[in-house]
Amino acid sequence: MIEAHGGRLISRIANESEQERWRAELPNLKRVTMNRRELSDVEMIATGAMSPLEGFMGRRDYEHVCEHGRLANGIPWTIPITLAVTSEIVAAEQIEIGENVALQDSEGTVFAVLEISDIYKVDKDHEAQSVLKTTDAAHPGVAYLQSTGDTYLGGKITMLQRPTQDRFEDFRLDPRETRFLFKEKGWDTIAAFQTRNPIHRAHEYLQKCALELVDALLIHPIMGETKSDDIPPDVRLECYNALLKGYYQADRVAMSILPAAMRYAGPREAIFHAIIRKNYGCTHFIVGRDHAGVGGYYGTYDAHNIFKEFEALEIGITPLFFDHAFYCNTCNNMASQKTCPHGSDQHVFLSGTKIREMLSNGESLPPEFTRPEVSEILQRHYSNETATVSS
Ligand code: ADX
Repeated sequence: MIEAHGGRLISRIANESEQERWRAELPNLKRVTMNRRELSDVEMIATGAMSPLEGFMGRRDYEHVCEHGRLANGIPWTIPITLAVTSEIVAAEQIEIGENVALQDSEGTVFAVLEISDIYKVDKDHEAQSVLKTTDAAHPGVAYLQSTGDTYLGGKITMLQRPTQDRFEDFRLDPRETRFLFKEKGWDTIAAFQTRNPIHRAHEYLQKCALELVDALLIHPIMGETKSDDIPPDVRLECYNALLKGYYQADRVAMSILPAAMRYAGPREAIFHAIIRKNYGCTHFIVGRDHAGVGGYYGTYDAHNIFKEFEALEIGITPLFFDHAFYCNTCNNMASQKTCPHGSDQHVFLSGTKIREMLSNGESLPPEFTRPEVSEILQRHYSNETATVSS
């Protein structure tokens, strides 16, 4: 079985005696409120999905990640995992290094405890430029950074309660569970597929090309926070299940949701996504065109090229790169820029805007673009949305 990133699969989930100890101490602890991304990061860290991280990053790791795409010890890591507060809160609450604080959501439910080892002020523009390659507030990742406090708290966490306790329970496997599943199934090589969208024909093509090379496929959709115009998780889940039922070989595919938030960091997020899937026990990772991109901020294949900045063994999981894929009317099948000699007038392509427009008008998407079962679910979703907006 492939090793976790950094060599050891982390667990920061409180066992029974830790639960007891922390629960007794909670009334004496100051509280820090997390936003949705931070909340999902707690779950990712605690379950080992972000191994070798054991908590929110301190200054040294944060700076190394921004500057070099590596932790302070040199291990590849491209996205800062941080907990933001304001300097006013730190001063007013007299939050200090060495103390433990309770981490709660906006409704006051405590999910974890943080042992503070670092408190540091940051330059958000610098972080945005280093990680997202832009400071444009129209980029959702930049907008996120601008909405959070100027000071980060670093330190180990212990999770007392799972933020997604009641959500998607039947479809959520932790890294230890996927690893167990792969072993049980006898799968040695597993390709992971990241997505934040319903699975369209191009996605399916990538997955099935990959599946020709490996033992099995893990469909691993991200279900943490995404942009407001992305399709909501429950609708996507319905699409995935319909597809799995109709078009996939059941003993070669697993599906599990990933609680992480999207960063829209393009190439840097591709490395991050790959490392996370390694922690789940996958040996291969699919990277298509403009992976984790948004708008026009990244080149179509930047997310392929960034892998050249690292040694293959350092990343550990093997990337499977795919060119832009589509249905070609002349080839009469799915193809890619690599395999199809025909002009783009022969290729079925629909922009996000066009898709939304068609679905909102009650039109179904062409079967060359999306399976009819998926189109039907999306049409229903958009007609409900239109009804809600106009009522
Ligand atoms: S992402 O933000 O998760 O990357 P999306 O769900 O659209 O967005 O993509 C999932 C994966 O499929 C990514 O690896 C992406 O690069 C790839 N992909 C999406 N559409 C295509 C396409 N038409 N051709 C090739 N790769 C694609």
